[in-house]
Amino acid sequence: MKMLKMKNISLLIVVLFFVTLLPLLMDSCKPSQKVAAKSGVQLWAENCQRCHNTPSPNTFSPEQWETIGMHMQTRALLTQSEREKIVAFLKQ
Ligand code: HEC
Repeated sequence: MKMLKMKNISLLIVVLFFVTLLPLLMDSCKPSQKVAAKSGVQLWAENCQRCHNTPSPNTFSPEQWETIGMHMQTRALLTQSEREKIVAFLKQ
């Protein structure tokens, strides 16, 4: 009988632990929002130097950046909005 009670209490503790942790765990699903908030410069600096040196904006013309952007979007596995932000930055 005593053993059973102990078990119930530890079960309760485990359940409480997860209930309090759940909001935190769900919060960790939010980085996508943070990613969405990133600027073109940030995305450019973080993504484009993984494979080669980061080409500076004045290396290519705006038209060329448009094409390169599409090419590198598939290479860097970027979303469309990430690519658009990076290309917008590079065209400046
Ligand atoms: C997964 C690796 C990878 C990532 C990430 C990557 N690139 Fe590239 N990039 C390459 C490879 C490989 C080449 C050369 C071959 C080719 O063009 O496919 C290249 C070539 C280039 C070139 C040269 C094109 C030319 O005609 O001279 C530019 C400019 C460029 N990348 C820009 C970028 C930009 C901007 C980003 C960020 C959005 C980026 N790259 C991210 C792999 C990558």
